[in-house]
Order: sequence, then structure tokens, then C-alpha cells
Amino acid sequence: MLDDRVLQVLARLEAEDADERARGVPAADRSRQVARTTGQFLFSLVAPMNDCGVLELGASRGYSTIWWAAGVRSFSGRVLSLEHDPRKAEDWRRNVAEAGLGEWADLLEGDAFETLPQVQDVFDVVFIDAEKEDYERLFGLARGKVEPGALIVADNVLSHVDALEAYSAARQADPDLVSTTVPLDRGLELSVVLR
Ligand SMILES: C[S@@+](CC[C@H](N)C(=O)[O-])C[C@H]1O[C@@H](n2cnc3c(N)ncnc32)[C@H](O)[C@@H]1O
Repeated sequence: MLDDRVLQVLARLEAEDADERARGVPAADRSRQVARTTGQFLFSLVAPMNDCGVLELGASRGYSTIWWAAGVRSFSGRVLSLEHDPRKAEDWRRNVAEAGLGEWADLLEGDAFETLPQVQDVFDVVFIDAEKEDYERLFGLARGKVEPGALIVADNVLSHVDALEAYSAARQADPDLVSTTVPLDRGLELSVVLR
């Protein structure tokens, strides 16, 4: 599950992220990865599940992917990550391979609005972590890739409350979902699909 290879890559990515923030590297050039405790939470969601399929919208350099992939690998799951920045995609491939998780995670490079409609699979868990103004449209696309019982997780709903309060309100008002804002780190909206 969380072996030394995984832990070492996670620790390196955390150190690189902290260093880039300290140096004031512009956001577009940073990994913008989830906090470690959020990574642990994502891992916890899928580690007990059998054959779990995760769709990740916004992969960056693979930090959250590594948590997801480490979680699903015990019980034969898979992760599909979407990323449109070629530099991030290159780093993603290197980091996921170095963590020894290449067998459990694939990268689909390109704009999610173009690549996702071509994906034929159905997923158990979807993670939305791309640009905030795109969450609503990404949710709409992801909604067609899940069945009842699936979980859709959106990050940053509290750190970017102005941009995302409408996202959370819409999910919580939807009778076809049970949706809860989890106040962990930057805030996660967890939406379970009922029908
Ligand atoms: C917040 S970062 C993701 C961080 C990552 N989930 C992690 O925790 O390690 C958002 C990423 O989404 C990517 N992105 C934004 N819009 C996208 C789109 N339409 N299609 C694919 N990737 C996109 C950005 O290039 C960026 O790398």
C-alpha cells in the first residue's frame, strides 16, 4: 500500500512544493497539489474498495494521483488522470513511475473538455481539481461517467468559496445526490450519486 517508494516520492513532492511556495513561484508553474492530510483522506476513501475506478480531473505532477493509486492498488483498482499542461504531464509520468504505481494509473494528456467525452469507462470515484470556473461544466461531464453509488469529490470549495459556493449549493440542492462539505484543508465537497 504505502511502501517506501511511494512515501519517498510523496515526501519529495511536498518538499518541492514548499520550496516553490517559499520562492514565490507563480501558481501556474507550481504543482498546486492537495495538502498531505487531504491526500491521506483521498487514500482512505478508496483503500478498502474492490476494483475501484478513479477519474481525476487535474493531475498536475501526480501528487494526488499517487495517493489515489496507492489506495486502489490493494484491491485491483485503477486511476485515470487528465492533465493538459505538457510539462506537468511529463513530471506526472516520471513521479508515478518512480513511486512504482505505473501499473495502477494512466494519464490522458490534453484538455479535459476534449478528452473526457471520448472516455467510455464508468468510474466509482471522480476527483475534480482543475480550474475553479470549470467545476460546474466538469461536474456535468463527469456525471455521465458514473452510476448510482459513485462518489464525486471536489477540492477547494472553502479556500475558493466565492468561486465555488454555487457549486456546493447546487450539489446540496440536488435530490439525486447526498452532498456534504468536508472542512478539511481547502474544503472538499463530497457528493454521493443516488440515482
Ligand atoms: C490544482 S492543480 C491539480 C493538483 C493535483 N490534483 C494534485 O493534488 O497533485 C490543477 C491542474 O489542472 C490542470 N487543468 C486545468 N484545466 C484543465 C483542463 N481543462 N484539462 C486538463 N487539465 C486541466 C492544470 O494544468 C493543473 O495542473
